[in-house]
Amino acid sequence: MPAELSPIDTAKFAAARRAVDLVQDGMKLGLGTGSTAAWMVRCLAERVREEGLRVQGVPTSTRTADLARALGIQVVTLDEAKWLDLTIDGADEFDADFNLIKGGGAALLQEKIVATASDRMVVIADAAKEVAHLGAFPLPVEVIPFGWQSTKMLIEETLEGMDVLGREVTLRLSGDAPLLTDEKNYILDLHLKRIGEPRQLGVALNQIAGVVENGLFIDICDTVVVGHGDGRVSLRDLQSGQAEEGSIDMDRARNIFADLGD
Ligand code: 5RP
Repeated sequence: MPAELSPIDTAKFAAARRAVDLVQDGMKLGLGTGSTAAWMVRCLAERVREEGLRVQGVPTSTRTADLARALGIQVVTLDEAKWLDLTIDGADEFDADFNLIKGGGAALLQEKIVATASDRMVVIADAAKEVAHLGAFPLPVEVIPFGWQSTKMLIEETLEGMDVLGREVTLRLSGDAPLLTDEKNYILDLHLKRIGEPRQLGVALNQIAGVVENGLFIDICDTVVVGHGDGRVSLRDLQSGQAEEGSIDMDRARNIFADLGD
């Protein structure tokens, strides 16, 4: 791993590192998916190694499970853990109410199950993820492969009655074939540009037969930790109103990420 991080990786690292400070000994944790969540797994593994922190992690994807295991974090299933103290995950967008779009990494189903089975969900993100209105990032919707084209038509029909600016729906591909989620489902990306009523849209999408889950996380996230390219980091908690500004000592951190494996 290079001794210098790009500004975007510095931002992700800073957010991840601050969020991992929230982890206490003995906690059961939800481990998110994506590049920011991968930094979180590395920082968590560092605390496990250095401090002897004892945690159990429930990964939200096979990618995260592989990384966590490789770095020495104890991995358990959600059925084994049953309920979690804290989930730390990335997001594609978040708004002022901490509503989210997730699923850019196609893991939204396990991510939503794990986050809603947690006392607290903390989102870690770089500053570009904060938006006034959700929807510039295409909204991922996980659908059953059986009859997916009919499901797509029903989604398009539903969007006609919704407060959105765009209505294009595309099947996510991996090469020439449909991308398969960990649950062997497909992802439809909804290019909505701006979502006026995220709660209403989330409910309407989940009523369509064939839709497994959508990437709108409404009233699920409690805390957002935002990292910046210079190592500054801010933490905001919705319920307590806590707002904290700080910065990660990137000179000290450099020793850590230089030691961390990919
Ligand atoms: C995966 C997700 C990710 O959290 C989201 O896509 C953000 O990823 P990254 O941290 O790489 O920007 O929802 O399904």
